[in-house]
Amino acid sequence: MKSLDYSLSQIGEAARFILDNAHSKIVCFKGDLGAGKTTLIKEICTILEIEGQVQSPTFGIANEYTLMDSGESIFHLDCYRINCSEEALDFGIEEYLNNGKYVFIEWPDIVDSLLPEMRTEIVILLLNHESRRLTLKNFNT
Ligand SMILES: Nc1ncnc2c1ncn2[C@@H]1O[C@H](COP(=O)(O)OP(=O)(O)OP(=O)(O)O)[C@@H](O)[C@H]1O
Ligand SMILES: [Mg+2]
Repeated sequence: MKSLDYSLSQIGEAARFILDNAHSKIVCFKGDLGAGKTTLIKEICTILEIEGQVQSPTFGIANEYTLMDSGESIFHLDCYRINCSEEALDFGIEEYLNNGKYVFIEWPDIVDSLLPEMRTEIVILLLNHESRRLTLKNFNT
């Protein structure tokens, strides 16, 4: 397990820390409402150089982005509005998880039973208004 404290001005370093230390392309982001999950995922997407803007998956559960150089897809799932694992199966979560691409998941607890053993988990803790602590753990990688 590794951890890093970061402020908003250090968000680039925090995102790089995750990309450098994650052993899996499936990365779960845990943390309270407003902890900073979307902010981190957006920054990771920026570093990976996607086409267009990153949005919160407000209107749906999944957002798909395209990497500029390779044209490969990456996915951002927000499971906040999912009530049970059947709902996740209905929207096709298994296809996202089995496609070998980057998948960043906010609120992963509800789909825990569907996640592969091999994954990376980020937990974000609110230290104060100016900073957060992230811990990174690789499972079975
Ligand atoms: N390291 C940080 N230091 C200070 N503020 C931060 C930090 N990271 C994120 N924030 C701020 O916290 C707020 C909430 O961030 P964000 O929307 O990313 O949270 P979230 O975990 O995705 O929330 P939700 O559970 O609602 O999806 C934003 O105003 C963001 O700018
Ligand atoms: Mg969010």
